[in-house]
Amino acid sequence: MRGSKAWRNSGGALVLANNNHRKKLKYNQHRWHRCWLWPPVMVCGVILFALGLISLFTGHVASNLEWYSQKLVKHRFWYNKRGGSGHESIDIWKSESSKFYYGCSERGPNYAPPVHESLSNGYLLIAASGGLNQQRTGITDAVVVARILNATLVVPELDHYSFWKDDSEFANIFDVDWFISILAKDIPVVKRVPDKYMRALEKPPYTMRVPRKSEPQYYLDEVLPTLLRRHVVQLTKFDYRLANDLSEELQRLRCRVNYHAFRFTKPLHKLGHKLVMKMRNMANRYIAVHLRFEPDMLAFSGCYYGGGDKERYELGEIRKRWTNLPDLLPDGEQRKRGKCPLTPHEVGLMLRALGFNNDTYIYVASGEIYGGEETLQPLRELFPNFYTKEMLVTEELLPFLPFSSRLAAIDYIVCDESDVFVTNNNGNMAKILAGRRRYMGHKRTIRPNARKLGALFLQREKMPWTTFSSKVKSAQRGFMGEPDEMKPGRADFHEYPSSCICKKPFIFSYMSLEDPVSNAPLAFNSQGELSASSLVPRGEGPSNSEVGSQYTDTPVIDRDLSLVTGEHSEGKPALAFSTPTGISLGGSSEPLTLHWS
Ligand SMILES: *[C@@H]1O[C@H](CO)[C@@H](O)[C@H](O)[C@H]1NC(C)=O
Ligand SMILES: *[C@@H]1O[C@H](CO)[C@@H](O)[C@H](O)[C@H]1NC(C)=O
Repeated sequence: MRGSKAWRNSGGALVLANNNHRKKLKYNQHRWHRCWLWPPVMVCGVILFALGLISLFTGHVASNLEWYSQKLVKHRFWYNKRGGSGHESIDIWKSESSKFYYGCSERGPNYAPPVHESLSNGYLLIAASGGLNQQRTGITDAVVVARILNATLVVPELDHYSFWKDDSEFANIFDVDWFISILAKDIPVVKRVPDKYMRALEKPPYTMRVPRKSEPQYYLDEVLPTLLRRHVVQLTKFDYRLANDLSEELQRLRCRVNYHAFRFTKPLHKLGHKLVMKMRNMANRYIAVHLRFEPDMLAFSGCYYGGGDKERYELGEIRKRWTNLPDLLPDGEQRKRGKCPLTPHEVGLMLRALGFNNDTYIYVASGEIYGGEETLQPLRELFPNFYTKEMLVTEELLPFLPFSSRLAAIDYIVCDESDVFVTNNNGNMAKILAGRRRYMGHKRTIRPNARKLGALFLQREKMPWTTFSSKVKSAQRGFMGEPDEMKPGRADFHEYPSSCICKKPFIFSYMSLEDPVSNAPLAFNSQGELSASSLVPRGEGPSNSEVGSQYTDTPVIDRDLSLVTGEHSEGKPALAFSTPTGISLGGSSEPLTLHWS
């Protein structure tokens, strides 16, 4: 029996006992592994496995098994390198499957027009909270809350009292008129409460603080009556006050705000892009690293990096700024749990291990580095082409220096424009940029898998570099910013805006896919239909004929098509397709021409 035939019946192998059994089992484990990475289908995985076992003895359920497995991947585009074992090196600069996706945040056909200011239920004042990017998430949610309440939003006030103590106003950072005009089809936004209401207004305005992650219904039940009564309500400390999961329309509104309505003011935009140009003039592409190895971050997270009493004392002093921090764990425990940023040296080692050469240009976005120049030195040795904003411009930066939010905006721009962005904590800037980069076409964002890497760094001296490197690569699988590495709804929406990521429709205009049994090419016409003449009825065994009869249903392959690449039982690349009706085809393939519009 030929291996290709066996694969043909598998979709998850295990099915036909033959001399390639071992290899096929490997393929199946791989599929199982992917199911594991994607927990809601774990149940399906169990079914798959059970069916597989049964089919070992009967052979009958082969096509069902295939069908189930294809159902599993429906609406998903599992990208894998040819051969599909998932262990091949990937292009570290660019996700190869990014081209199959695009950001989408259009309003649906039944989206109601915005309420007019004069008919709105009142004016919503918002006091954003935290640093620049935390405020950005808050303002995004504020727009959605205004939409839920049919309220008029007053341009939000920024936080002047956070850890960063920045006096900047919204208009110093973001283009206010742009913000108002982009959102005009969603909600009315005004710069200030009209005088008519101002005169009647208590001073300060009536304030409310809603619980974290409140559902839309909470706003309707608790905030709306007050808003109607008082006309003006201020929501304070507004960060993460709206639930993560919302209806698709509201999620898409979040994307319109976050990715379209915010535009930095001209001076920030100009300087940010000047830095980007300077990087690009030196190298075609660059990595931006958000080090965030800053004293407040380390202290807040309760991290310890082996600096003895000096470090314990210094970070301990900073910890006193916050009340209610959890008790410190024993030295190093937080790091083992993956709760701490990597040191700059470790970030450098990770990047080199992943395959970035020493001639790579890196831009380091950071505030004050804990330990200063000394801490940075090992990273600079690994990447001599090392730049910060202070190294690229000096005088032009001066006007911004007193304003941490404006400096953060400049770093945001350079990181956003980078080819590869490396985060080093799960803070707000890291999340916001990771989400934005997905929306903007899945430019790579590397998140260090701190928990796994931590253990590896401890062992580094005990293994050759090549071993270390391959272990780092394996630890980083699923943390490289690939489109399908995250499960929708699991992550914070700002980090993974799943409602705003669309898959491009496929059009199969030409394809040569070999029928695994007859070796005849399968042909598709320009409509993407499988031409019936290329279908060869299966003759061998019950499972074959069952699948064979499915072929004659003439699937129309269109935008709902899923493609699975896998390892052929002879070690060749293989493909399976599933269509909306659950029909699947498999075979060894080459060449395959995909067109996407
Ligand atoms: C907001 O306005 C829409 C119609 O534009 C209406 O269906 C909805 O009930 C209103 N909601 C509130 C809270 O007023
Ligand atoms: C990179 O490393 C090589 C040796 O491995 C060295 O010759 C070269 O000068 C280094 N490049 C830079 C930019 O430091």
